This record gives sequence, structure tokens and C-alpha cells, in this order.
Amino acid sequence: MHPFEARGPEGAAFRGPPRGATFHVDRRRPRCRPSPVAVNPFTAVDHSGQYDDHRSVCEDVKWIVTLAQWPPKANTAVNHPEAHHTMDILTALNPETPYSKRRLQLVLGAWVASAAFERKAKVTLDDGHVNEGEYSKQSLYALLYSMYREIGTVKTEHGEPYEFTFNTWGYEWPAGWGDAPHGTDPQRFGKNAYRGLFEFKEVQAYAAARQGKIHLVEMGCGTGAGAHHICKTVWPECTYEAFDMQSAGVQTCNRKFVPELNGRLVATHGDVTKLEIAANSADFVVICETHITEMRGEVTAHDKQFFAKVLNTLKPGGFLVWGNAIPELTWQPCFDHLKSIGMTMVDAHDVTKEAVVARDLDKARADAYVEQCLDTFHAFKIPVLGKRRAAQARQALLNFYRNPGTRLYNNMVDGTDTYRVALFQKPMVA
Ligand SMILES: C[S@@+](CC[C@H](N)C(=O)[O-])C[C@H]1O[C@@H](n2cnc3c(N)ncnc32)[C@H](O)[C@@H]1O
Repeated sequence: MHPFEARGPEGAAFRGPPRGATFHVDRRRPRCRPSPVAVNPFTAVDHSGQYDDHRSVCEDVKWIVTLAQWPPKANTAVNHPEAHHTMDILTALNPETPYSKRRLQLVLGAWVASAAFERKAKVTLDDGHVNEGEYSKQSLYALLYSMYREIGTVKTEHGEPYEFTFNTWGYEWPAGWGDAPHGTDPQRFGKNAYRGLFEFKEVQAYAAARQGKIHLVEMGCGTGAGAHHICKTVWPECTYEAFDMQSAGVQTCNRKFVPELNGRLVATHGDVTKLEIAANSADFVVICETHITEMRGEVTAHDKQFFAKVLNTLKPGGFLVWGNAIPELTWQPCFDHLKSIGMTMVDAHDVTKEAVVARDLDKARADAYVEQCLDTFHAFKIPVLGKRRAAQARQALLNFYRNPGTRLYNNMVDGTDTYRVALFQKPMVA
């Protein structure tokens, strides 16, 4: 897609400034005319991030205006999922775009500016909750993975440097599983979550029978931190294909983790339900806290596509290893669905108690991380609007990390959400 494409339902396209960008215009809207003037600059939406390469200061200004969607009348010309009356980081960012630090400064600047026009805050300040439908996970992840990458090395609450790469709540290593494997590593709970996927005797026997020469496919790998951990320390003889729909996450994987694994780890950007993944290729399909099956009590059409892909990707006799904290009421419908498509349920652990402990023990690190994020972005230092947005961003991030006191943390404490690790096997014969 072109960096400046703004698309209307009719898809009428023409060329116009800046620099010959293609625009698609919604002709049904009265204010919209298919002319460069009508769409420039307020209706242009960046899709690729490549614009960074040839941008002038003047274009930066246009971009801010575009992000802030100001003046509001001008942007009624666009009927694009990313077009809003105010810049909204909860919905407006694009998973195809790895945002540079400069671009993030602009995005957050526009978000702060747009606070002046916001009638009702989306983020609940007491517990960080944002209503379903008022945010898109795609937008949130586009922001987060770019932010993790651009902020780079941060410090724990004890001043220990590390790069935030595990976008995983994880859990304390359960007492019944033996000694905790990851000491005081700041991201040990994420590592536990990945290692814990293989804490089943059936899995150990399967891998041992193949001398550990197994092939894994991960659906929703984030930055690939877990994939790297598995390749380095859990299955050092394995090969691993990691997929994620967030471009910035996959870029981090290719920069930070792929090179040292000498071809054993391959990371690919895309939606696994739409990508070509070799059929019958994986000994294990890994799903670790991937955003699926989050609709309470329901297996959605998208979830079914996801599970169909899992089934198709597994070798006969291969395993799905799946861990996550999701609504308790959703687990059984998912298990029923997996059985209905021919998978066999082998075992499942409930590690909710350990997941709550992990969040308690991780609180100081999460707090420290969020403050370092907020400090990085100048717009949050602006009096009144900046401070207001900083408070919203802080609570939303902490809720996202299920920090103690937030809605998502409380959901685990009262059992609304439970963290389970499930093992399913594809039968040898269909
Ligand atoms: C909470 S993050 C976890 C990332 C990683 N597994 C970890 O634990 O660090 C969930 C990830 O699932 C990815 N995801 C969700 N649906 C996906 C899909 N259909 N295809 C590829 N990735 C997907 C998101 O982009 C996001 O990176």
C-alpha cells in the first residue's frame, strides 16, 4: 500500500501531492472532491513508515496535522478505519508500520493535542480499563513494539539494564514443577511461560524420541524473545518458524534474535490465518499469550480460522502447546471446538495462582518501565494536556501488563480470567 493512501469505499484513485502519492477518495461524502486539494493534507494516512526516508520539515508539519485530524471538517472526506476526529493511539496506528522514535514523538504529540477535543476519556483512570470496541489491539501493538524497539535498553527497579522484549505476563514457576529455571532474570516470568509450554511428559517423550530435532511454528511471536529462549535453552537442536502480524515485533526478532541462531530461527511478518504456512510441517505449534479467544464464552470465526491453521500446520501426531490468560468461560468452548475439528486433548494445567504471584513480583519492574516510557516522550511533559494524557497512558499500559490494582489483574484474582497451559495432539490418522 502506498504510504499516503487514504481509502474510501468507492476506491476512486488519483495522483496528487505530496510526491505523487495515490489517494482513494470517498465520493459519497458531500465535502469530498476527487482533487488533490480536497485530500491534502488532512486525509492522508501513512501506511508504511517509508515516508520517513524523504520527509521534509514541512511534510512533518502536515503529518502532525494529519494525525491530529485537524480541522475536523477536512477529515470528513475520509472514510478510512484509521480516520478519526481526533488522533487516537488506541485505534489509529498500523501494524504494517514500524514507527521510528521521531514518528512516535509526533504520534504522541498529536494524541496529547487531541486531548483538547476529547469529550470523554476512553481510559478509566482508576483501573486502566478501556471498553471493548474503543481500542484495537492492532493499534496498541503497533505502538508498543515500536516503543520497545525505539526505547531500547531500560533499567529494572534495581537499576539493572535490559531490553523489554517479552510481551508476556507469564507466571511464577509452579512449585510442583521443580526448581525455578530463570533465577532473578527481569523477564523470567515470560521465560517461564515459554518453557512451561513443554512441561508435559508426552511432550518430553515425543522430543526425546527425535533427539530434540523438532520443528516448531509459533503463531503470534511478538518480538521473538520466547522463540529465541526456546531455541537457545529449551530445545537447542530445534528449528523454529515464528510469525507475527506486527511488523515492528518481527523487525526486532530479525535484528536481535535471528542472527545468532544460524538459520535455526526464521521470523515472518503477517497474519497467520492468511499466510501460507507449510501443511503437516510442525512437530509443535506454539501459542503463547497470542491475542485470540478473548471473547467471553465464545469461539469467534477468527478463532476458528486460527485453530484450522494450527491443525493444518501440525504433522500428524504433533502437538499444539497453548498458554494464556483469557476469560474462564472461553476455555471450555475452545476445548470443545478443538475436539470438534479432530484434535485430542491430552492435558491442561491451571497456573492462574502463579500468574497472579508473577504480577505481584513484577510490579516494581513494570512501574519502572512505564515511567521510563513516559519520560522518553516530550509531549507528556506539556502542562495540563500532556499530564492528562500521561495519566491515561500510564494506567492503560499498567492495565495491559495486568499490574496489581488494574482491571485485568483483578480479573485474574477473582477468576474472571484464568491462565491455563493446554496440550492438544493431532491424531496420527485423520
Ligand atoms: C500479548 S502478545 C504476545 C507476544 C509473544 N507471544 C510474547 O509472549 O511475547 C500477542 C501477539 O499476538 C499477535 N497476533 C495476534 N493475532 C495474530 C495473528 N492472527 N497472526 C499473527 N500474529 C497475531 C499480536 O500481533 C501480538 O504480537
